[in-house]
Amino acid sequence: MKYINRSSSLKALLLACAALAVSVGVQAQQAEPEDVNAPYRDPNLDVEVWVDRFESEGREAYDFREQIVEGIGLRPGQSVADVGAGTGLFEPLLAARVGGSGKVYAVDIVPSFIEHIEEKAAERGLTQVEAVLGAEDSIRLPADSVDVVFVCDAYHHFEDYEAMLESIHTALRPGGKLVIVEFDRVEGESPEFVLEHIRASKEEFTDEIEANGFRLTDDATVDGMSETFVRHFEKR
Ligand SMILES: C[S@@+](CC[C@H](N)C(=O)[O-])C[C@H]1O[C@@H](n2cnc3c(N)ncnc32)[C@H](O)[C@@H]1O
Repeated sequence: MKYINRSSSLKALLLACAALAVSVGVQAQQAEPEDVNAPYRDPNLDVEVWVDRFESEGREAYDFREQIVEGIGLRPGQSVADVGAGTGLFEPLLAARVGGSGKVYAVDIVPSFIEHIEEKAAERGLTQVEAVLGAEDSIRLPADSVDVVFVCDAYHHFEDYEAMLESIHTALRPGGKLVIVEFDRVEGESPEFVLEHIRASKEEFTDEIEANGFRLTDDATVDGMSETFVRHFEKR
């Protein structure tokens, strides 16, 4: 399915989450925070359906993917972890930036996404990409193993965000960078489906990240983005 425009695509993506949640017996529109990953726990999850949703025009994270990755400033030889990698949209872009001497860890909690990322990396000859099955509370990477952690449209899915931030903090090398790409939830302005699906505003997300060992360094939101923000943090 190709989306007609950005706002319809966002609605489609979020409504798809809700529909899938209903299919596993959860009313997404009444979801408690712990239900936010219900669609991803569906044992019948069809990866191709999610490829179509995540990797289609009209989704800001997709449309601005080049500029988002360009803004990180990755260098050849560096290591980056894409946490909540989904279907692996960002893996080729990150792999190109760090090159063959670098490393891209694609971390997700959905085994079929991990298998899909492994298959695509093998097909593309991207030997620097390694898919890692994470846990709800851990990215399962060793201490001091990465220069950058990239989290696109996944932070609001972290059910235990403090444990995830601790795990990210541990995996980052001293002075390492955390990049957050998230929906910009503005009370009274954002569409209903963002207000229902995203638990906090940009400022609240920033406060909790800063309270867990990071310092905001840049607002790297790309010109033209209207519903998404990009913020860079440094490990303290
Ligand atoms: C909306 S998708 C975003 C996928 C991808 N980053 C993109 O932008 O196309 C959110 C992803 O976060 C993953 N996720 C949720 N909680 C997670 C956790 N604690 N650790 C790793 N991944 C997680 C979900 O399985 C899902 O693939």
